[in-house]
Amino acid sequence: MTYKEQLDMDRIPQHIAIIMDGNGRWAKEKGKRRGEGHIAGATALHNTMMHASKLGVKYVTVYAFSTENWTRPDEEVNGLMALLFEKLDLDIFMDNDIRFCVIGDTDRLPENVRERMNYCISKSAGNQRGTLTVALSYSSKWELTQSAKRIAAMVQEGKMTIDEITDKTIDETVATSFMPDPDLLIRTGGETRLSNYLLWQCAYTELYFCDTYWPDFDEEELCKAILTYQQRERRFGKTSEQIAEENNNI
Ligand code: IPE
Ligand code: IPE
Ligand code: MG
Repeated sequence: MTYKEQLDMDRIPQHIAIIMDGNGRWAKEKGKRRGEGHIAGATALHNTMMHASKLGVKYVTVYAFSTENWTRPDEEVNGLMALLFEKLDLDIFMDNDIRFCVIGDTDRLPENVRERMNYCISKSAGNQRGTLTVALSYSSKWELTQSAKRIAAMVQEGKMTIDEITDKTIDETVATSFMPDPDLLIRTGGETRLSNYLLWQCAYTELYFCDTYWPDFDEEELCKAILTYQQRERRFGKTSEQIAEENNNI
C-alpha cells in the first residue's frame, strides 16, 4: 500500500510548516551548480503545494530564505532573488484558489521582488482553498524582537498595561497572527535543527525530519510525513488516559 492510501483523510493536519533544505547538496551530488538546486526546489514547492491542498491541508508555510541566508555569497543571494521574481506568478494562485502571504523582513528584498510579491498578496487575498505563506528574509529572533517592540510601544502609548500582556498578546503581534500554529513541521535534507524558524509557533508542533533533499520531495514523501504525524499522540501536557477520554466524548 502506498503512504497515500494509508492516510486517515479525517485527520489531515490543518497547517504544515516546511524547512525546504538540501537544494545545494542535491545539486552538488549531480555535478550541478547550487542555483540549479534552487530551481529544482522551486518546482518541488509548486508540486508540494498542489498535493497538500488536494489532501485538504489549509495552511502551508515554507522557509524559503532566512535572515542568516543574507550572509551567503552574493552570487547565490542574487540568483535566489532572481528566481523568486521569476516564480512569483499570480495565475498559479488564482487558478488554484490559493491565498499567497509572506512573513519576514521584506524591506530587505529587492524592489522588483517586493512589488511583485505585494501584487500577488493583494490580488490573492480573497482566495479560500488554501494559504501558502513564504518566509522570506525571516527568522524567529527577528520576528520576536519586532513583537517585543510593538508590545512595548503599546504600553508606552498607554494602550495596555504590563499586566495585560499574555501569551495571546504575543500570538497577536507575531507575523503569523492570521493563522493557527503548525500541526506538523517537516524539515528535509537531513539536518535536525530549526534554524531560527517559527520557534514561538512550534511550541506544540509535531516535528518530522527526513534525509530526502528538498528537490526530491514528492507526494509520497509528503504522505509519509502526514502518516507519521497521524500515528503520534498529541497530549499537550495531559495524560494518554485524558486524551482517550476526550476522544470518546467527541
Ligand atoms: C535550502 O537549501 C534553500 C535555502 C536555504 C535558500 P540549501 O541551499 O540550504 O541547501 P544545502 O543545505 O546547502 O544542501
Ligand atoms: C534553513 O536552511 C533556511 C531555509 C531552508 C530557507 P539553512 O540551510 O540556511 O540552515 P542551516 O544554516 O543549515 O541551519
Ligand atoms: Mg541548507
